[in-house]
Amino acid sequence: MASVPSLASNVQQRLADALSAALPEAGSADPLLRRSDRADFQANGILALAKRLKGNPRELATKVVEAIPANDVLKEIEVSGPGFLNITITDEAIVKTLAARAADARLGVPHAEKPGTTVIDYAQPNVAKEMHVGHLRSAVIGAAMVEILEFTGEKVVRRHHIGDWGTQFGMLIQYLIEHPHELDHKADSASGEEAMSNLNRLYKASRAVFDSDPEFKDRARRRVVDLQAGEKDTLALWQRFVDESKIYFYSVFEKLDMEINDPDIVGESGYNDMLVETCRLLEESGVAVRSNGALCVFFDDVKGPDGNPVPLIVQKSDGGFGYAATDLSAIRDRVQNLGATTLLYVVDARQSLHFKMVFETARRIGWLNDDVRAVQLAFGTVLGKDGKPFKTREGETVRLEDLLDEAVERATAVVAEKKDKAGLGDEEVVENGRYVGIGAVKYADLSTSAVRDYKFDLDQMVSLNGDTSVYLQYAYARIRSILRKSGDARPAAHPELALAPAERALGLHLDQFGETVAEVAASYEPHKLAAYLYQLASHLTTFYDQCPVLKAETPAQVENRLFLIDLTARTLDQGMALLGIRTPERL
Ligand code: ARG
Repeated sequence: MASVPSLASNVQQRLADALSAALPEAGSADPLLRRSDRADFQANGILALAKRLKGNPRELATKVVEAIPANDVLKEIEVSGPGFLNITITDEAIVKTLAARAADARLGVPHAEKPGTTVIDYAQPNVAKEMHVGHLRSAVIGAAMVEILEFTGEKVVRRHHIGDWGTQFGMLIQYLIEHPHELDHKADSASGEEAMSNLNRLYKASRAVFDSDPEFKDRARRRVVDLQAGEKDTLALWQRFVDESKIYFYSVFEKLDMEINDPDIVGESGYNDMLVETCRLLEESGVAVRSNGALCVFFDDVKGPDGNPVPLIVQKSDGGFGYAATDLSAIRDRVQNLGATTLLYVVDARQSLHFKMVFETARRIGWLNDDVRAVQLAFGTVLGKDGKPFKTREGETVRLEDLLDEAVERATAVVAEKKDKAGLGDEEVVENGRYVGIGAVKYADLSTSAVRDYKFDLDQMVSLNGDTSVYLQYAYARIRSILRKSGDARPAAHPELALAPAERALGLHLDQFGETVAEVAASYEPHKLAAYLYQLASHLTTFYDQCPVLKAETPAQVENRLFLIDLTARTLDQGMALLGIRTPERL
């Protein structure tokens, strides 16, 4: 599995070598190469260098060009403007590099230089509660990061930190004790929907009694104490809520075409045994102090509106542990037991202050240090078409399953419309409708920068034009269709052929795949991969307009074009797979 250096890095290296040969006094200066419209690449680095060396930039640039040995990669280097270099690559080098990519199952994408272990915290809904669009975002973005990181050779441990603990369980369990048949299923195989409606009903009913009957409230409070003490029967009932919720979670994840594994679900309750110790360590080290009975960590830069410091509360004055104690214990577990070098949290931006305080606390006590870092991949709010937080007209949170069903329904209509042209049977229409609909939801989420709020607009999401997954899926299917129709002609690289401008543009973009993946893995920005793929499909559209494939002029040209589109299809397929989106063969 050879990683293939991109032409950009190849050119960058040649220029850097020429720079230090021509201007040894410059040390190791960066030629600052980037893609350009005027040539293939432009290098601007000589301008800053000339300033530093107090030389004439055009003269220095000319010297650098002269220092480049004859080679078959650089076709033309022109000194332009105040001292830029405009660089054109040979057609031969483009095709040869792409051929090397095509020969590799990983398309030449490099492995990370120093892979580590990332524990990623994502897809973390709450037990006995409906999932909302925020949970969808965490799941979609997190799953993409898992694929991307694993592809670069990182070891990834998944953690679904579900909300499965807290005082509300006292109320729920007490109610269930008093109404024992409330969680029974109608049939023996429960659907996710039925599970959720049971839980919802129970939640509402117990809440109503809790609010109106002080004696029940008392019993519920005592039940919390039993639960925390690990009393056997209470725990067994709690487990029923967790199991019931999991039926529901799994049904949503399955709709999302996403694999979630039971051993990776380690909810808040999974850290119960560590909480006392976590508090003891924090208190003994002086990182946390008692304040009005509560165990707190203070920060100079975290103050409330009244100017008073707002602490992170690790233990409440009544002895109870909250969200922070659990997260701090989870850090200890992930670093000390799972061997994490990176902790990645895919969590709503509205929890950023919490994580800032938790990470800082962990750093102060040394659980995080130079060898282990923690990062929140924070995401913004999902908005409705009206630009307000996504709610139903009645102001309730939108049921995720309804939303996904609707996306699939609309996508199926889009697919069905073209079914004859694509030669699809009824089963394929159903299957593709699902892949297109779910892909649309995922892509809409992944194609905007995570921190930004985004509008949930199904019409836009399943549109065939524009920056949508359907557009990318069609690009893929169209290539596959041409390849099926190619008869005896096989994709084959012909470096001796001259390339048309649209072929060069497509080729140079294909060559950027490895660098894009590496960058996205390092910066946790899957939207840059989505943007890359969209541009790839756009280059392909231009290529089709300008370059006939099966009707190209010579057999060699047919083969070379088949080679180009075949590599494009593989790149689209791999890129979409990293985003968790399927690419049907016919559409
Ligand atoms: N369950 C939480 C919620 O619904 C998200 C959990 C995030 N992860 C964590 N380690 N705190 O908001």
